[in-house]
Amino acid sequence: MATPVKDPLTGAETTGHVWDDSLQEFNNPLPRWWLWTFYGTIIFTILYWVMYPSWPIGNTYLKGIGNDITYKTDAGEEKTTHWNMRALLAHDMQNGAEAIKQQEYLAKVGAASYEQIAQDPDMSSFVRSYGVGMFGDNCAACHQSGGQGVVGQFPNLVDDDWLWGGDTTAIENTIRHGRLGYMPAYSKTFDETQLNQVANYVLTLSGEPAVDAAAAAEGQKIFQGQAGGCYMCHTKEGTGMHAQGSANLTDKVWTIANLPAAETPEAKLEAVKAVIHNGVKRQMPVFGKDGRNLSDTEIKVLVAYLQQMSGGATAQ
Ligand code: HEC
Ligand code: HEC
Repeated sequence: MATPVKDPLTGAETTGHVWDDSLQEFNNPLPRWWLWTFYGTIIFTILYWVMYPSWPIGNTYLKGIGNDITYKTDAGEEKTTHWNMRALLAHDMQNGAEAIKQQEYLAKVGAASYEQIAQDPDMSSFVRSYGVGMFGDNCAACHQSGGQGVVGQFPNLVDDDWLWGGDTTAIENTIRHGRLGYMPAYSKTFDETQLNQVANYVLTLSGEPAVDAAAAAEGQKIFQGQAGGCYMCHTKEGTGMHAQGSANLTDKVWTIANLPAAETPEAKLEAVKAVIHNGVKRQMPVFGKDGRNLSDTEIKVLVAYLQQMSGGATAQ
């Protein structure tokens, strides 16, 4: 080994490298504190590898020394796995005090009647908080988060006015089995005069002024007779039938024809004409079996929640 080169001025050992004739590289030992910190990080790393899931080995990896965790997967299967944060989170969400309370309430609501739910303040407030989440996850995309719907596309669920009926059985059936709202298009059946007549009559059914009163009188004959056959679904009086989801035309609630956006009687007439001309076809999806598979209790929570949202009534 060559004798270490020393800097003549300080006496410190140098590596022997010299730049620019005078710049030398000293060969000082590393500071102690730095060295120990460095060793410390190495020890920490090894301990970490042993204690936590970490280092890959072939097809597998070090799994750590924590206790195994059992939790339910999204598919509902029970799974036991080595300790890891994700499983721990799932386990805590399913077994924490809040989660257990939630399971208890779900079981209680599942076993209760709608009257019992409505009368019990605890169950009612559970339905409100759990229902708002379920509604947000499953329904709000179409019916909007407040349940107010979109005229022409998705009915308003909070106005206590129902196409298919607003008692708990009807709402439950709607959610479980879905609904197809269908009205034929009259574009080929009616000429412009007939369309104008029947649309004028429809306006008068809910007390809107007809744009042309004489036409409305003719329209009544079409509506109530074979030429239009509207009465077969909407009844002669125009009140609609829950069994068919045919809208009540005598109330001022519009679900397809966008009358709320129409300001003049002419614009309202056009809105009604458009529905008759184009017909209606819209689908409420199936949320029970073979659909989106909500459980009976989940459907029950939604029904009770909608009852609360629409004013708590079991009415029309
Ligand atoms: C993909 C869009 C869509 C989603 C999601 C959806 N709906 Fe609907 N829903 C509709 C349509 C469209 C109708 C109207 C069917 C018709 O014209 O008769 C409807 C109708 C209804 C009705 C009947 C309203 C009445 O006046 O009788 C209820 C109740 C209802 N939905 C509840 C729900 C609930 C609760 C959810 C969530 C679990 C939900 N909907 C999710 C589209 C949807
Ligand atoms: C086969 C049954 C059927 C027949 C026949 C029928 N309708 Fe309808 N109509 C419906 C249904 C169902 C709806 C509601 C659809 C929905 O909301 O999904 C509807 C909705 C409407 C609406 C919209 C109401 C609203 O709230 O926006 C108007 C207007 C209307 N019908 C007028 C008529 C007229 C006029 C005729 C005859 C020319 C007629 N319908 C014939 C089933 C029918």
